[in-house]
Amino acid sequence: MNAREQWGTRAGFILAAVGSAVGLGNIWRFPYVAYEGGGGAFFLPYLFALLTAGIPLLIMEFTIGHKYRGSSPLSYSRINKKAEWIGWWQVLISFVISTYYAVIIAWAMSYSVYSFGLQWGGDTEGFFMEGFLQRVDLVAENGSIGSFGGFVPAILIPLILVWVITLGVLFKGVKRGIELANRIFIPTLVVMFILIVIRAVTLDGAIDGVNAFFKPDWGAIFEPGVWVAAYGQIFFSLSIGFAIMITYSSYLSKKSDINNNAFIAGFSNSSFELLAGIGVFAALGFMAAQMNVPIDEVVASGVGLAFVVFPEIINTFPGLNTTFGVLFFGSLVLAGLSSLISIVETYVAAAQEKFNISRKKAVAFGGGLSALVSLVYATQGGLFFLDTADYFINEFGVALAGLVSVVAVAWFLKLLPSLQSYANEVSDIKIGAWWRVCLGIITPVVLGWMFLQNLMTNIQ
Ligand code: PHE
Ligand code: NA
Repeated sequence: MNAREQWGTRAGFILAAVGSAVGLGNIWRFPYVAYEGGGGAFFLPYLFALLTAGIPLLIMEFTIGHKYRGSSPLSYSRINKKAEWIGWWQVLISFVISTYYAVIIAWAMSYSVYSFGLQWGGDTEGFFMEGFLQRVDLVAENGSIGSFGGFVPAILIPLILVWVITLGVLFKGVKRGIELANRIFIPTLVVMFILIVIRAVTLDGAIDGVNAFFKPDWGAIFEPGVWVAAYGQIFFSLSIGFAIMITYSSYLSKKSDINNNAFIAGFSNSSFELLAGIGVFAALGFMAAQMNVPIDEVVASGVGLAFVVFPEIINTFPGLNTTFGVLFFGSLVLAGLSSLISIVETYVAAAQEKFNISRKKAVAFGGGLSALVSLVYATQGGLFFLDTADYFINEFGVALAGLVSVVAVAWFLKLLPSLQSYANEVSDIKIGAWWRVCLGIITPVVLGWMFLQNLMTNIQ
């Protein structure tokens, strides 16, 4: 066996971890979750979740990868043979996420192109649901493969492009692939997004939007659901519980810092969320002012925000519409790609180690399989499948993946004390008993509650 691959620099690792964390969740999920969860008041549960679960779990995963030097299944099996399935469970969830995450990035690519000449027209919802998604048939109505105006430009070419880029990067390996890609993507993304925010906050009505976002509804912090939402956001947003951070940290050199890196990654991701919250609500404030309606009527998240509301905002934009559109959808593409790369790497690394094959073979098989599966969402019923997968991941996947690993590590494997001293040995910042309390008690209780609550609402 060759020596394990390694990051070239510390900054390279941090950029890759931040690249994984900063994704669609920051741009289209956080602003909405925060607004619904009490606006300015949401920052209390949010920061609490970041400090009691987000960063502690990041430290735990970084330490496991750093110490056991393997993909998630291999690391867990080195801890204890019986724990290997935890890694596979995380890898499976990552696989599912990757198949639909890729499709959304492909849509954003199409929409970057549609920004030229505002090709979505005046009825942006109709265009997305019918003009765009309906053209996403593998086979057009007349039985032939869609013409150039149909299926091909709508989804197939961008989807292939997404996979070519992702698998191409992974093919190149850790240093010259993943690290290099993130070195390019992340600074570019930050510059593009800052431009968007600057433009957005200077629009008419932007201030009202931003005010609506920050206006605290203190009553919200007495609702358990808001706390659950904060934890859910932190887990998804930091990509923890999905085998990713274990895999990435397994490529650290022996002497690398753990704790400090976790704080840097955690706070960078949250800074990006805050920035996105301001940008998105400034744009929504502008839209509400144009339509002369209260902000509540234009607030949206997810697919609706990105592919229906934003095109509408871009339509009414005072000049440079295309530039703004390209910047917005381009940001989605870059944020998405850097996350997708990290998700796919979890099963590439796992397959490589489990079957003792080369990275290139693992990329071809693992990546090829997910690329094929992602075509399912490119069919007529695609949006339905995508919604279903996304729903289950958010309702159960996030809580279960985190819960299983944290309970196993803290309570069954009783690993916290040894991980703590391992992390402290290589790190500038030292972690203490609070870290064990967060992981051993607070996080399992919240995640367990979150899981049960979601189960109950789904059974009803
Ligand atoms: N953290 C990414 C985001 O905020 C999403 C993601 C979740 C990526 C799970 C990988 C795994 O969008
Ligand atoms: Na994120």
